[in-house]
Amino acid sequence: QETGKGAYDHYMLKEINTQPTALKQTIEGRLDVEDATVDIEDFDRGTFSEFDRVQFVACGTSYHAALYGSKLLDDVGVDSTAYRANEYDTNTGPACPDTLVVAVTQSGETADTLKAMRYAEADGATTLAVTNVVGSTAAREADHSMFIRAGPEIGVAATKTFSSQVVSLALLSRQFAMDFPDASPRADFDELAEALARLPSDVETVLDQSNARTIANRYVNDDAFFFIGRDLGFPVAKEGALKFKEITYQHAEGFTSGRLKHGPLALVTPSTPLFAIVTGRHNEKTLTNAKEAKSRGAPIVLVTDDPDAHSDLADVGLEVPSTHPLLEGLLANVQLQLLAYHAADQLGRSIDKPRNLAKSVTVE
Ligand code: G6P
Repeated sequence: QETGKGAYDHYMLKEINTQPTALKQTIEGRLDVEDATVDIEDFDRGTFSEFDRVQFVACGTSYHAALYGSKLLDDVGVDSTAYRANEYDTNTGPACPDTLVVAVTQSGETADTLKAMRYAEADGATTLAVTNVVGSTAAREADHSMFIRAGPEIGVAATKTFSSQVVSLALLSRQFAMDFPDASPRADFDELAEALARLPSDVETVLDQSNARTIANRYVNDDAFFFIGRDLGFPVAKEGALKFKEITYQHAEGFTSGRLKHGPLALVTPSTPLFAIVTGRHNEKTLTNAKEAKSRGAPIVLVTDDPDAHSDLADVGLEVPSTHPLLEGLLANVQLQLLAYHAADQLGRSIDKPRNLAKSVTVE
């Protein structure tokens, strides 16, 4: 793995641009497209056949990957909930032996996430760490580990590790679907497998063709930035807003599109661009909600695989290639990474080391 920034101005930009390689590493040797099967490390068929439900615990960007993963599990009939690790002990009853607690943590060292894992273990749950760092505390303490193999990430704002986490969880969802007694494996896993294998080149297309820089320049000095989405678009909206606020220091919020009318709409003005994630599925209501913001004068940026379909609504689009509906959100997220990066660059921010933030938070 090449270290240093190379030709890039920032580690973050390098890490965004090397996502195709990171994703290939995540997938390599684990996915057989022809047979539509997964083979993850030492997880033999049946490794997870004792469990009834999954609880994810994670913080920050990893929490958004967990939210995405939880939707992927819903889709194969595996009961799951994503918890912010810092609130896990106050939000759940005791975990039990038929619960698999999946800690999603890039570093494997986040104190809140380790604490949640230990809390679950003490109650008899089995733990699985999905992490980037071999030998990390999470990997050592968990009953099982899956490594996302994204390569070292230096920028404080997580980018390539989010993509690799989600793809790891997509692979795990197949394993769980085959193992969990009550699961119902997707009939179209062959199509999903093909789309996973194609994902690195789809990300490459986004990187080559993105107009995020122009959009960032147009809106960067506005008052606030809202990101909305439903279903798989929701974690993408949350992550888009997190990335934006982390490195631009501008106010950004991400929420389910349906929430807009229950409060946030009061903040909408011609100086609050609204980024609507309309990739994947269940987009009708997001489009309706975006129209409500447009009628209050907000500029509308649609992240979509079909810009022509919505040209009357969008002031401008961030386009992504069409792929399997479960994966389009990942491509949307790459556009939002670039948006945040270029906005922060335009503002001259300390992109790789944003003020007050740490790559890994080892205190509770
Ligand atoms: C900090 C970092 C975030 C990261 C989060 C979780 O807040 O600034 O970028 O997403 O910790 O880190 P982890 O290593 O557990 O994924």
